[in-house]
Amino acid sequence: MSIDYSQKIPNNVNLSDDRTLQRALEHWQPAFLDWWRDMGPEGSHHHDVYLRTAVSVDPSGWAHFDYVKMPDYRWGIFLQPADAARKIHFGEHKGEAAWQEVPGEHRANLRRIIVTQGDTEPASVEQQRHLGLTCPSLYDLRNLFQVNVEEGRHLWAMVYLLHRHFGRDGREEAEALLDRRSGDQDNPRILGAFNERTPDWLSFFMFTYFTDRDGKFQLCALAESGFDPLARTTRFMLTEEAHHMFVGESGVSRVIQRTCEVMRERDIQDPAEVRAAGVIDLETIQRYLNFHYSVTIDLFGADQSSNAATFYSAGLKGRFEEGKRDDDHVLKGDVYRILEVQDDRLAEREVPMLNALNEVLRDDYIRDSVGGVARWNKVIEKHGIAFRLTVPHKAFNRKIGTFANVHVSPAGELVSEAQWQANARQWLTTDEDRAFVASLMGRVTEPGRYANWIAPPAVGVNRQPMDFAYVRFN
Ligand SMILES: [Fe+2]
Ligand SMILES: [Fe+2]
Repeated sequence: MSIDYSQKIPNNVNLSDDRTLQRALEHWQPAFLDWWRDMGPEGSHHHDVYLRTAVSVDPSGWAHFDYVKMPDYRWGIFLQPADAARKIHFGEHKGEAAWQEVPGEHRANLRRIIVTQGDTEPASVEQQRHLGLTCPSLYDLRNLFQVNVEEGRHLWAMVYLLHRHFGRDGREEAEALLDRRSGDQDNPRILGAFNERTPDWLSFFMFTYFTDRDGKFQLCALAESGFDPLARTTRFMLTEEAHHMFVGESGVSRVIQRTCEVMRERDIQDPAEVRAAGVIDLETIQRYLNFHYSVTIDLFGADQSSNAATFYSAGLKGRFEEGKRDDDHVLKGDVYRILEVQDDRLAEREVPMLNALNEVLRDDYIRDSVGGVARWNKVIEKHGIAFRLTVPHKAFNRKIGTFANVHVSPAGELVSEAQWQANARQWLTTDEDRAFVASLMGRVTEPGRYANWIAPPAVGVNRQPMDFAYVRFN
């Protein structure tokens, strides 16, 4: 399954055997590059960036590192190898051969799933496009650009499916993916979190930790799909995605580390004094965490959803690690406990599991995301500081589902409108927090140097030395 780089569009799907498809994609390619030039990382097009490029889909040794100008990055189409014997392993088609073509009755739903996933990919590039101007180091700048080019490739992954399997509507959807814009009033991206701004590097690290992890869970659920080309393409996307979450987890960890070092050196605790020392106080980090976490868990959708049931029963979208679960994989008659508001308090209620599959995926996500927060707390603990970061209650600051119409504190207490107003400044990132964090964002471009508010990483990219020039400016 090595990748053919002699083609205009690198691929491992024998694209040159299908001239019509190849022409359609070669027609879309310049529109993608125009989008990259307009909406990709600002002012970056002439930089030489030390990037990894996929050379194979084999998990051992799939990437090659070298300097690339980003508009010359070889975006392409990389699917995991097909397994001819693969069967659909959940839902009403369980046991049937996996589909190589789109079944007519599932066409509209599959298109919607692919478009919704595809839309998040360019959206995050748009959200992050100004960050390069305030990079805390060349190492971080390179990681930002790596994430950006790979999100661009994830768009290619979804556009390939649209072009290959959805005919004219697929081509129209592929064009629309380049027309929508994150945060645009008239033509926004599809999902809420992808229309928020990512104005500073703490937001970027929180986004890549929490929101790219939503991507991981959605991709894992799609990697189970009975529609085999979708399963194969999302499996390779997950290989790339792991790095994005690493950037987030290690980025937040380095911010915390630096703050703790300064707090110890100067023996200070008061957030105002911590800020005066030029690092980000732990209270502000907690508010950023609360914001990004709550906005991200909304992405899983309403807690009860007949669409989720349809997607599962039809074999389009599985659960996280579907293959490792030991139930019947049909779930008819099964129940799941969801949380809701009953008589002015939060209480659990059993509902049919098929309708609660968004909540099942959200709960899997929650279990996964708390792990990193525990590791961040280890850094604080190691410095002998009493503060601990916490993940807010899942009903906190929700805009989608049963909790959209109530106010719940980070600790999980139902609160009145007045209590919410009185406390929101302690719970969610304020304009003043953002202004403070923005005031720290300079631009550090000397190899081996780091902004004052963030610790250096433990190791370099691809084991390069600490003073390696990850980006060369031309
Ligand atoms: Fe992605
Ligand atoms: Fe990502």
